[in-house]
Amino acid sequence: MSEEIRLSEFDDELKRTHQCGELRAEHIGETVTLNGWVNRRRDHGGLIFIDLRDRSGLVQVVFDAQIDQEAHALAHDLRSEFVIAVRGTVDRRPEGTENPDLPTGQVDIRCDALAILNTAETPPFTWQDETEVDEKVRLEYRYLDLRAPRMQRNLRIRHEAARATREFLSDEGFLEVETPLLFRPTPEGARDYLVPSRVSPGNFYALPQSPQILKQLLMVAGCDRYFQIARCLRDEDMRADRQPEFTQIDLEMSFVTREDIFDLTERLYAAMFAAVGEELPCPWPRLTHAEALARFGTDKPDMRFGLELVDVTPVVADCGFKVFSGVAKSGGVVKGLCAPGSADLGRAQIDKLTEFVQEHKAKGLAWFQVREDALEGPIAKFFTEEELANLREAFGAEVGDMIMIVADEAEVANEALDWLRREMAGRLDLIEEGSWAPLWVYDFPLFAWNEDEKRWDAEHHPFCMPHEDDWELLDTNPGAVRALSYDVVLNGYEAASGSIRIHRRDIQEKVFDLLQISRAEAEKRFGFFLRAFEYGAPPHGGIAPGFDRIVMLLCGEPNIREVIAFPKTQKAQDLMAGAPSPADPAQLKELHIRLELPVAEDEGEEQEE
Ligand code: AMO
Ligand code: AMP
Repeated sequence: MSEEIRLSEFDDELKRTHQCGELRAEHIGETVTLNGWVNRRRDHGGLIFIDLRDRSGLVQVVFDAQIDQEAHALAHDLRSEFVIAVRGTVDRRPEGTENPDLPTGQVDIRCDALAILNTAETPPFTWQDETEVDEKVRLEYRYLDLRAPRMQRNLRIRHEAARATREFLSDEGFLEVETPLLFRPTPEGARDYLVPSRVSPGNFYALPQSPQILKQLLMVAGCDRYFQIARCLRDEDMRADRQPEFTQIDLEMSFVTREDIFDLTERLYAAMFAAVGEELPCPWPRLTHAEALARFGTDKPDMRFGLELVDVTPVVADCGFKVFSGVAKSGGVVKGLCAPGSADLGRAQIDKLTEFVQEHKAKGLAWFQVREDALEGPIAKFFTEEELANLREAFGAEVGDMIMIVADEAEVANEALDWLRREMAGRLDLIEEGSWAPLWVYDFPLFAWNEDEKRWDAEHHPFCMPHEDDWELLDTNPGAVRALSYDVVLNGYEAASGSIRIHRRDIQEKVFDLLQISRAEAEKRFGFFLRAFEYGAPPHGGIAPGFDRIVMLLCGEPNIREVIAFPKTQKAQDLMAGAPSPADPAQLKELHIRLELPVAEDEGEEQEE
């Protein structure tokens, strides 16, 4: 870098009068001052062009030796990402040089004064890079990555959605209340992040997996309607839609039924979507958890397309194809879907689909091509004419379709068919770009059987109210008890989760009993919470929309890292700051912590410096 570049101090005279991206033909003739970054420089000898960039966009600046010799000379030193102030006149671009792709493309700035405010090293990448930049490099230099217009747009959409949330909920009478981060373990099913206490040696805070307990205590406190755009911390395996710290729109209401929460939530989402110019159809369709599994194989079906699953177990229970009749007799299911217009998939394609469902634990994929007068395929010979006709009718199959079937235990068949259904939707191009399909899934089971530990776990968390019609089943058939719980599913993502809560100590204790949480254990973990319920807890319920996931969908991004300013990697690392990192021995001593580390394993790429 040139040693001689003279940097200017920033003063009032250099302050911008306009943002780069706002200049239009109507500004022609005005003298403006702009501040920003050099996006790109093109040197044409007597004329030097730069694209100047700030948060609002780009505008072209022209340095003409004829207009100002000094500015033109200084412009030779400009490089990408230098920070500058320019003064000049807004001019109409000469005919034929307008740029219709740029909102400011009608004009350029004829510069008569340039000040270089700061220089910049050649950046490791810029957002115009033709080839895709490795995400690790993007995350290491996140401040450069965030300069990209797409990332700026994502931050803005996130802000607009948060603002709409605050406005909407405030207007609905909600109070925004902050709850502590240094707290006790909260039972959301993930691992806790622990924080050692210096002043209470040997004791730890847990960072909240959600404000669940605290928001319920706020209801006991008479808060009536609470919300918080709350940070939640969970030590769990990362996925595209999961981060170790993420944000919920956490809310809770007193004296409400499930219907009230459905209504409020639909209007909240509509307000968020409207804030960024999107329209969400209302009211949303609803499916019970059981229906969702039966018809789509999953509790978060993508409703932007059909391809519903059909259970043909009764149709094939006595057929001659032993795989089907065997599975039917042993209590499994024979289920499948009908892919329109796919009868002529080649063998290679069918083999690929078979491998695909096998990767998702199915044993195989049975298939029939639907022809004018027959179902064809290698296993057709095992079925009677009548059975084939019944299959065809069950699937509502038309000539030219392909019927695809998996036979297995219900859970395995459902999971494999959910994958297959989404795969086929992609192949058949069934998803309309930019469409929204919100859905309520409700009546989840209260408990989930934990086969490893041979006991019941809470399906959601242990504070969900059992369905009043199922109270008697608590003693006889816990697995069949439904909870007054619900999820919002949006385009196949779980976008919120909530429930009506238990507000009576006797019911809460009953649920703890079934979860094999002993009185002593319950007292130790939740004593303060149960005690509160003895002092007049109102009936209450709530929900927590996953804010990052909603913003991800609003931005059309494939993962939530793209809508979080400083996200973490799959290994929960911050590559920019290098977190987590070893603690200073003096700090550990102060915290009374001695380390006992595992013998060095392969630490993986991300840890390499
Ligand atoms: P739950 O654990 O289902 O419920 O979380 C609510 C919503 O938060 C989002 N979410 C996540 N988003 C990003 N990264 C993660 N690791 C992550 N985990 C969850 C999802 C999910 O639907 N206290 C209850 C809510 C309640 O009952 O009111 C709770 O936390 O979109
Ligand atoms: P096989 O009897 O193993 O030769 O399988 C005959 C056909 O049935 C093959 O197309 C397999 O992929 C398919 N198939 C095998 N097991 C299953 C199953 N559990 N569900 C559906 N199709 C299966």
